[in-house]
Amino acid sequence: MKVNGVAYRSIWPIGQRSVGIIDQTRLPYELHTLELADWRAMVTAIASMQVRGAPLIGVAAAYGIALAANQDADEAALDAAGQQLLASRPTAVNLRWAVQRMRARLDALPRSERRAAAWREADAIAQEDVAINRSIGSYGSALLAQAYARTGRPVNVLTHCNAGWIATVDYGTALSSVYLAYDAGVPLHVWVDETRPRNQGLLTAWELGGHGVPHTLIADNAGGHLMQHGKVDIVLVGADRVGREGDVCNKIGTYLKALAARESSVPFYAAVPSPTIDWQLGDALREAPIEERAASELRIVQGLDERGRRASVELASPASAVANPAFDVTPARLVTGLITERGIVRPDQLASLFPEAGATR
Ligand code: MRU
Repeated sequence: MKVNGVAYRSIWPIGQRSVGIIDQTRLPYELHTLELADWRAMVTAIASMQVRGAPLIGVAAAYGIALAANQDADEAALDAAGQQLLASRPTAVNLRWAVQRMRARLDALPRSERRAAAWREADAIAQEDVAINRSIGSYGSALLAQAYARTGRPVNVLTHCNAGWIATVDYGTALSSVYLAYDAGVPLHVWVDETRPRNQGLLTAWELGGHGVPHTLIADNAGGHLMQHGKVDIVLVGADRVGREGDVCNKIGTYLKALAARESSVPFYAAVPSPTIDWQLGDALREAPIEERAASELRIVQGLDERGRRASVELASPASAVANPAFDVTPARLVTGLITERGIVRPDQLASLFPEAGATR
């Protein structure tokens, strides 16, 4: 997608030597790019959320393995890098998927061929991510066009967190539908949840604004009220891990949106690229690993001061205990549909779209 007229992706290889990323910890205040030349720097970038969003951290991990292969393509060295990449963030299953795919490709090759193959495979994963998201957008945008055709007024979408192009390589998952519908002339408006404590809603607002999509930033607690008053036509979110029964693990607070949506008869959809499906996951509520992040994310807010300089302000007393679970699980029964690259299905039909996944269950 474009930023100030310049086309960007969120991650890109630099001559099979290093990897470029947009440092998302500096958004939306400044667009700053980084060049990572070592797999350890990629581990840090994922853990610190310089790169974030389930599809993007999967691709970042794939490039992390390629960076590791630049240094040493031995099994033991790749194991060490893979383990640290896997431990960098626990919830998004895309990371495990990408590391396993990279290893399956490389382990089948003699050591001398692994380095070049690693870059080819990571590039392929990145390209596939773009194609998957484009396809999700084509199905989801049709949903938005239908909503417009039904009501004849602009479609009000509510989204949580950031499931846009910077959470992926390009286009986004949930927001891909919004961009494609908007480009096709469907009148729409997006309610953007702020998404405390990391405020990924600010990234969503930045993205939408950059594309010209009408949107309004709201406090996380406003969604239920808006739904009760008929101001939301559809809730559209991303996903970090979806179980085989269609339970959706996504950014903390998603579950409350789904509950409010059910109470107000607002359809609730999650955009789900296939690498986000964990076919080994049965009861997601009990089994999905939920990341607990640092207390400082809640205690300290970051922004710009009155002179436009980056500043931090302490909100909560260090004496107060803080809990910071970063994800929750929306049970399949609250999900109207899953938007995948192969079409839109009810959660209980997910497996029918991916018959080849049966072997991994
Ligand atoms: O903690 P983050 O910012 O990496 O969270 C992931 C997300 O961006 C969201 O949960 C999103 O809905 C899924 S990724 C498209």
